[in-house]
Amino acid sequence: MESKEVREKFLKYLEKKGCKITPSASLVPENDPTTLFTSAGMQQMVPYLLGEKHPLGARIANSQKCFRAKDIEEVGDLRHNTFFEMLGDWSFNDFFKKEQISWIFEFLTEEIGLDPKRLYITAFRGSPQNDIPKDAETVEIWKELFKKNGIEAKEADFSEKNGMKEGERIFYYDENKNWWSRSGNPENMPEGELGGPDSEIFWDFGEELKLHENSPWKDQPCHVNCDCGRFFEIGNNVFMQYIKEQGKIRPFSKKNVDFGGGLERIVAASQSSPDVFKTDLFLPVINHIEKISEKKYAGSESENDKCFRVIADHIRAAVFLISDGANPSNKAQGYFTRRVIRRAVVKAQKLGINENFMARSAEIAYNIYDGIYDFPKQKVEEELEKEESKFRKTLAEGLKRFNNLVSENADSGKKLLRGSESFYLYQSFGFPKELIQELAAEEDFEFDEKGFDNEFLKHQELSRTASAGMFKGGLADAGEQTTKLHTAAHLMLAALRSVLGSHVSQKGSNITAERLRFDFSHPQKVTPEELEKVEALVNEQIAEDIAVEEKEMSLEEAKNQGAVGAFENKYGEAVKVYTIGGFSKEICGGPHVKRTGELGAFKIIKEESSSSGIRRIKAVLN
Ligand code: GLY
Repeated sequence: MESKEVREKFLKYLEKKGCKITPSASLVPENDPTTLFTSAGMQQMVPYLLGEKHPLGARIANSQKCFRAKDIEEVGDLRHNTFFEMLGDWSFNDFFKKEQISWIFEFLTEEIGLDPKRLYITAFRGSPQNDIPKDAETVEIWKELFKKNGIEAKEADFSEKNGMKEGERIFYYDENKNWWSRSGNPENMPEGELGGPDSEIFWDFGEELKLHENSPWKDQPCHVNCDCGRFFEIGNNVFMQYIKEQGKIRPFSKKNVDFGGGLERIVAASQSSPDVFKTDLFLPVINHIEKISEKKYAGSESENDKCFRVIADHIRAAVFLISDGANPSNKAQGYFTRRVIRRAVVKAQKLGINENFMARSAEIAYNIYDGIYDFPKQKVEEELEKEESKFRKTLAEGLKRFNNLVSENADSGKKLLRGSESFYLYQSFGFPKELIQELAAEEDFEFDEKGFDNEFLKHQELSRTASAGMFKGGLADAGEQTTKLHTAAHLMLAALRSVLGSHVSQKGSNITAERLRFDFSHPQKVTPEELEKVEALVNEQIAEDIAVEEKEMSLEEAKNQGAVGAFENKYGEAVKVYTIGGFSKEICGGPHVKRTGELGAFKIIKEESSSSGIRRIKAVLN
């Protein structure tokens, strides 16, 4: 079945069940500063899952555009994509497990025609330490549905070591696999976050995928979540019925459903193609690359075929990213658009495509979605052309330089790309860091990441000193720099509270002309992903050049307005409140800059423990 039919059947089917259809939200979330991209259907639904009334009611279905930045380097195998569509259906405290599971089973087997014998299921094993029970109810519902289709579905409390056994069809996994929240397992959920047990549906492409002659998995125990290629997750039902409160997972007052089905994958299952790139969602792009490269795509593990898949995925992604406003740049979302374009161009170069091809390939991507999505075609093509031309100016030289480094270092017996070397590729030839990392790995070279990051910071320090030096006839104004860092601290506190939760409060700070040091309450280490989000959020506020407003008011009023800051020992006094758009409101003596645009680029350089329950961040502005 072709993708248009699958998408349409899904929405029509759920419409019959009383769901109202909503359009896809943008890939660049509006009014959600906590994340760069829409990477799951849930993002635009959070307020309704939490209890706000959706204008269309309590049952919703949609097909949501998603972009998963963390998967960029995974793309190249038969199944990973950065851009994909997620078929979603939503219950805001309306229907629950029984309806949801029966509907999805019926949709997949009757509407799409998937053979129920090739469907496998996982469910949540329970988590004694979090006091969350095993989801046996879900398993009973699935068993009953299989039974009605003449299939006895055995359940197994799963052990990866032994693999699955004949007749077993339903498997329990723990919270690292079958618990879903936007931030992963219960431990990682911030305060106020919703989550719940997850029941996933897998498609069996057949044992030959595991047992073929060259398979590294031939003698390994197999299970639905292993990587042999036989099984493919096509959708998941999340029962959003828990919330994190005061550090604990508690039952939420509402029982919600979040179903997410991978359109690309359901189409692949319906077409019996374990290679998503051979379905109608990609094949036109693959055929186009065959034409311009004069090479054939065989769907194999070869380097050439991998290049085909990366290019096909990244062209689609770039077209959608630019359409939703993420133009290639060095900042925030734009950096990811830059990365996918540049990575596609490097792979195209490997296939012998030496001329600009992205802009003229965009048309093929539009056609796949004809009648489904509109594209600002002129803008998309201009941006693709501009970015590709810019990168191609330095690409050949950069690759030559890289190859030289590899042979020189290999000759001297070191398979290491030093920080200074890779930073040179970054700075002089525009190779994104992750791309250099990937190129190094392809040559079996170690990439000195720390070295690269140090060079990066050193360079930033130098350029900052240089620009500060030029300012005011050569005299760097230390006072001005501390004011900027002071405003940056307000943005950072707001960003930390938004990413980590409202338990975060300031525990101290120390600002010099060079850097800001900031202590705050948080029980565990802030993960690199969280730091990245905080940084991106702050930079977004800077890019928006928001006015910083200063107002004097009573402490009472400041409190009522939701300002954060030191409330102690100030009763009865008037306080100054600094407001930065809708993002930050803080009681503070000042001074601050007039607009966030004055700050420049914000960068976190260190996160560490300060004392028990208190974390410390050091950050700079460039
Ligand atoms: N339905 C949850 C997700 O995978 O996004």
